[in-house]
Amino acid sequence: MSSVDLAVSLFRRLEGGDFRVLQGLELGMTQYRFVPLEEVVRYSSLPPSEVGFRISNLHRLGLVYRWVGPYVGYALNTAGYDCLALNALVKGGILEALGKPLGVGKEADVYDALTPEGERVAVKFHRIGRTSFRDTRRKRGYEGDRRHISWLYRSRLAAEREFEALKLVHSVGVAVPRPIKQNRHVIVMGLIEGWELAEVGEIDEAEAVLNEVLENVRLSYQKAGVIHADLSEYNIIIQADGHVLLIDWPQYVTREHPNAEDLLRRDVRNVLNYFRRKFRVRRSLEEELARIKGEA
Ligand SMILES: Nc1ncnc2c1ncn2[C@@H]1O[C@H](COP(=O)(O)OP(=O)(O)O)[C@@H](O)[C@H]1O
Ligand SMILES: [Mg+2]
Repeated sequence: MSSVDLAVSLFRRLEGGDFRVLQGLELGMTQYRFVPLEEVVRYSSLPPSEVGFRISNLHRLGLVYRWVGPYVGYALNTAGYDCLALNALVKGGILEALGKPLGVGKEADVYDALTPEGERVAVKFHRIGRTSFRDTRRKRGYEGDRRHISWLYRSRLAAEREFEALKLVHSVGVAVPRPIKQNRHVIVMGLIEGWELAEVGEIDEAEAVLNEVLENVRLSYQKAGVIHADLSEYNIIIQADGHVLLIDWPQYVTREHPNAEDLLRRDVRNVLNYFRRKFRVRRSLEEELARIKGEA
């Protein structure tokens, strides 16, 4: 069972106090890899006996990790973190029910879902540096290590960045999923239907499809000042009507970024190389770059 499935099956049964404890752990994890019980008590503002009881229960359910070292410490695992985000999105009236997985990758799990209004949406759970607790067990410096940057923080940062990028480019008309809401490591966006360019064997109008991809890169660069920075056949979706969408934006940079030029060049080169190899469409990299930058 994936952590999302576990979270979905459990989060409606959790009580307010359980969420306080999970939130206490979340806060404690900015300071500790494994949060001592006293700190969970302090962060959750609940009586120690209640925290002890609830955390044992959460541990039994598989939502928190218990570490036994020089002291006993706790950490949220991905299912526990998923619960916090799902709870916020449901309470906030954004989500009503979660459906089936749409894409389970190395750095994200994407699910379809329903809003209270019955609209189908996509929910992307970012998973940066998915922790193997077995590895961290051997490491030292866990206690009060302020410099440690947890998977939790990095996953939230990735979601925040992707949501920011989607808002920037969507508002100038770039073809991307519509950004709806972000909470912690999760973003909710419009559901799209289609195929990754990498999965399609043959396309009728390869020239036109390539033009559309490049036009979206140009719009994004010129109107929003945004460079995707991970553009490839895996992050270009072709819809049934032949139109394209660009997805997966957490690593975007702005035009002011010191490596902006290199990253834009790499994006365009990736796309042109793929179209040349796969569809025998030839274009000049320099000409396309000039057009994208408005120098043509
Ligand atoms: N808005 C969406 N609607 C439908 N499916 C999506 C949506 N966003 C992503 N997907 C599916 O999930 C897969 C992974 O999403 P992506 O954003 O590329 O994350 P990553 O590559 O980091 O795992 C995509 O290839 C696509 O199949
Ligand atoms: Mg991707």
